[in-house]
Order: sequence, then C-alpha cells, then structure tokens
Amino acid sequence: MSGKRVFVVDAGGRGNAIAHAFARSGDVEMVYVAPGNAGSEMIEKCRLAILQGKPPKTISEMLAFARQEKIDLTFVGPEGYLSDGIVNTFQEDGQRILGPGKDAAILENSKCRTKDLLKSLKVPVPPCENFDDPSAAGEYVHQFCSENPGQGLVIKADGLAAGKGSVVCRTEEEALSTIERIMTNPKLFGQAGERIEIEKRLEGRELMFFALSDGRTALPLQSALDYKQAFSADEAVAVRLFNKLSNNPNLDNNPNTGGMGGFSPHPWLDEELAQKIMNKIALPTVRGFHEATGHEYVGVIYFGLMISDEREPSVLEINVRLGDPETQVILPRLETDFFRLSEAVLDRKLDTVQLQWSPDYCLGICAISGRAIKPLASGGGERPGYPGEHYTNMPITGLEKVDPGILIYHNGTALGQDAAGKRKLFTTGGRVLTLVARGRSLAEARVSAYENIKRIRFNGMRYRKDIGLGYL
Ligand code: GLY
Repeated sequence: MSGKRVFVVDAGGRGNAIAHAFARSGDVEMVYVAPGNAGSEMIEKCRLAILQGKPPKTISEMLAFARQEKIDLTFVGPEGYLSDGIVNTFQEDGQRILGPGKDAAILENSKCRTKDLLKSLKVPVPPCENFDDPSAAGEYVHQFCSENPGQGLVIKADGLAAGKGSVVCRTEEEALSTIERIMTNPKLFGQAGERIEIEKRLEGRELMFFALSDGRTALPLQSALDYKQAFSADEAVAVRLFNKLSNNPNLDNNPNTGGMGGFSPHPWLDEELAQKIMNKIALPTVRGFHEATGHEYVGVIYFGLMISDEREPSVLEINVRLGDPETQVILPRLETDFFRLSEAVLDRKLDTVQLQWSPDYCLGICAISGRAIKPLASGGGERPGYPGEHYTNMPITGLEKVDPGILIYHNGTALGQDAAGKRKLFTTGGRVLTLVARGRSLAEARVSAYENIKRIRFNGMRYRKDIGLGYL
C-alpha cells in the first residue's frame, strides 16, 4: 500500500499541530497545508500546498489542489471554510474530507440559532434571549439588572468573531455600552454583531470539552485548561493601558482573546464528569441535531461549558472545530494514529475506536504581538497589541536557541527578506507562535516552556507569565 497524502486546511498554530499529528502516522507519506504559514514547512513530511505557483486560498482552489495531488484525506481546521461549505464542495467531487458540512457549521456561526436548538433538545443552557434591535436589547438589560442586582450578563455577537465575540458585563452600564459597541458604533465585530445573544452569567468554572463525532456516535477527546484573557490577574496597569489605547471606556475590562496558552491534561476534568458531559450534552446534541435537521454532524465538536459547583454542565457555546491553542497541547499527547482515527470517523466506525493518550503533560504559551511603538514618521505610533490593533512584519529571532524537544507551532509567521536581503522569519498576526513543552509533571513542562520562550524575540512580543500557575 502506498503512503497516504493528507491535506490540512488551516492557517494557524492549530493547523501546524494537526499536520504534525498526521505526519506521525506510519500510513502517511506527505502532509500538505493551506493556507499554512512558515511553520508548516518546519514539520517533517509537511509542505505548503502550491497551486500554479501560489498557495490555494479559495475553496475552489483548495479542491483543485486536492485533485492535482491526488489527496487521500482532507482535514479542515477553521470555522470560516466550514461555514462557507468546503466539505459540501469536496464531497460533491467525491473527495474524502473531515469536518462538518455547511448546515452543521451553523452550530458555530449562529450563537442565537444554536441556543434555540439546544433549548429544544433540552440540553442545558443558561437563561438567554436573542435580539436584533439594540433598544429592545437595552430594555432587556435594564429589566434584568433591576431584577437581578449584582448578577452579570454575557453579550455575544451571533456570528463568527474569531473567538472574541463574547463580552462579560458586570453592570448595567457596561452591558449597555457593550450593546452599543457591538450593534451600533463602532460595530466591534462587524456583521457578526447585527444580532446578539444575551445570557445570564452563570457561576462556576469554564471548561472546553472536545469530542469527535461520526454523525451517529461521539468520542470524547482529552481536554486542556486554556487561558482566554489577554492579561493575568496581576497586570491591572497593562489592562488599563490596553483599554486606553483601544479607546475602550471600560478601562478595567481584561479582553478575551482566541487563547493565550494552556495545558493538558485538564486538572479537574475527571472520568465521571466527562461521562456526564457525553450523556447530557455531546450525544444528545449530535443525535438531536441529526433528528432535527436531517444532517449528520461529522467532525470535531467543541463545547464551551460552565460547570456549576454541583458539577452540572451548561452549554455556553458550540464550536465546530478544534480549539487554538488547545489543539497544540492536546494532539501531541494522542498516541492513537491520527490518520486511522480520521478514517474511522469518515467510515462511521468511531464505535470501534479506543483512544490512547500519553500520561505526559503538555504546556503551551502563545507569544503575541503586544503593545509596540513605531516612529510616527514611518506612519506608526503606539498600538495596544493583540487582541486590539497590533503591528506585524516584525523580524523574529532566537528560534534556533530553543531546545530540540520543544514544539514550536506557528500561528502567524512568514518567511521573507530583511533590509539586507537576508532570509528571516516575520510576524504576520496577533498570535505569532505557540511554544509547547512536555514533562512528566505539569511543573516540569512549565519550567521548560518558560525557559525556552525567553530565547525568542520580536518587537512587541508578550506572553502571559501564569500559564499552569496555581495547578502545580
Ligand atoms: N481557544 C479558543 C478557541 O479556539 O475558540
């Protein structure tokens, strides 16, 4: 049997980690990645996809590439391509592609419709309402806050907002200003915020729970504790400066990001809780979705949950993909062959699979494009940094100083030439790199990750210093 050719559609650190997981399979000869980044070619057996001299970007270019290279299996990372129907287009052409179809991707691209579906399936969700009129939303907030003093609200843009479309509001004032900023001015999340969902802020602990579904059954993956907020609890001054530079009147609001780091295994997700989540949430959602819509949900399903003090889960949101940076710390621990696992999903044979995981810890730290100043003469000035406005195109140095056992997954990098014509690595995004260290304990992984990240540099580079702290 000749080696298999895999195509990973993803631009970020998650895509690097997925490509790396496929590359570890003995069945796989070559992994192509598109759009990919400079990190995609630094992994053994992995190459950037090229179609007629350029990386394929649109769905039809991706399909042309898959045909050209006689790809055996395509795996799609990000929600955007899934919502745009890449799976449908590939399937119509007879390609084997792993990911939910357009009708299933609605679970991520409409928070409002998803909550309505979950309510109808009796899957637990917080009390919530949907609005497309800012004044009706404002009235609801006013009434809610008068009746529930001190109880916060969460306001979510209905559509896709790169994992940042959710704002926690502690007071009526904050909630009203958030509605204004999402729906009216400056339309923080663009079209995604034309409709919003407002939900009661539940008490408890948040958990990101990942499962694989073949449309008939679902299998839990291991989880990761992730760090969503841009700053750690002891960075109040940096938070205020960030908000000042972002013209956000809520000066103490620590903004959400796509994720600043994390570690796996999860410190408090035990077998009993995982089973409860499968029985009360994951399986009813996958099966109920099929019954309600006639469409099978095939691919990764990722539940953002709140777990109450009584260990009862409620769904805050669903995503139709793996998390970033969670994938970067979960997949290196997977010992089951990722290509064969993907085949089992596509063949509807997930019920025959038992996943094997390494007992090691993986801890990942995201290096981001933080606050930076460029001379005004060069059109610059001060920018607050990710998740706000940030500079890109900054040269990155020090990767060669990182220890050989450390994984460096690239989120936003490209190779280019510096002013002297030397080939260099440059930043291209808010999140730039996820550095992942392994250890037999969390402490070991943590020490190694923090020792190594100090060796990498770029202008404005910032990372949270508290990943894993408090769980050692
Ligand atoms: N890390 C959060 C996400 O991928 O949505």
